[in-house]
Amino acid sequence: MDVLDAIKSRKSVRAFKPDPVTREQIEEILNHVIRAPSAINLQPWEFIVVMGEEKQRLSRRLIKLYREKQISCSPGNVKPLSAAFSKRGAESFILMNPYLEKMGQEFNRFVNEGSCNFYGAPAAVIFCLDNAFSEARLVDIGIALGYFVLIAHKFGLSTCPIGLINAYEDDMKEILNIPENKDVVIGAAIGYADQDSPINEFTSPRDSLEHFLRWID
Ligand SMILES: Cc1cc2nc3c(=O)[nH]c(=O)nc-3n(C[C@H](O)[C@H](O)[C@H](O)COP(=O)(O)O)c2cc1C
Repeated sequence: MDVLDAIKSRKSVRAFKPDPVTREQIEEILNHVIRAPSAINLQPWEFIVVMGEEKQRLSRRLIKLYREKQISCSPGNVKPLSAAFSKRGAESFILMNPYLEKMGQEFNRFVNEGSCNFYGAPAAVIFCLDNAFSEARLVDIGIALGYFVLIAHKFGLSTCPIGLINAYEDDMKEILNIPENKDVVIGAAIGYADQDSPINEFTSPRDSLEHFLRWID
């Protein structure tokens, strides 16, 4: 699979088969991920892979916390969003709904509890950053996440980034025994897509390039 094929065919998957992935598979993917560029070649990323019974335990705890605290997937903006951004977010929800209806699922519950459960994936990868770094280094973690989802796809595995865990960072640290000086930046579900699940028929739209681009010449 060449890079463009991977970019064109990758998508976030929200229903996984329970089939396990091995340490070797995840190590192979991460060995490619760490070829990603980073500022001053600091390679600031740290990965925690949670699998098996520990992953089930993590999911159970996160779902319980979500039910108690009701902190949902949200854009995490500090100011009201412009109409263009709000429209994109709303559209994604609306377009996902027919697939959820086929499954008898309500959007908020599916996405929030699903995210806490890493959508049933057998493994979760947690991307961390030492808090000695400035926020600028989040860029490096983002690049690593981009590599991760594409490389996993190349090896026949599907992923879904899970930003929701960031809202439960203190709990994540306690559950996974993550040192105080490490920030939990993002998680990702990884496993084999359940091709029979209607939600995996959903493909998210994109606005055309003109919305994002300004030339100065
Ligand atoms: C930083 C980040 C955080 C995300 N967090 C979540 C999440 O918590 N739950 C979820 O279902 N999807 C999450 N996603 C997946 C996005 O919703 C998805 O990438 C977007 O809708 C585009 O769809 P695609 O990945 O299928 O192209 C996240 C994606 C990114 C990049």
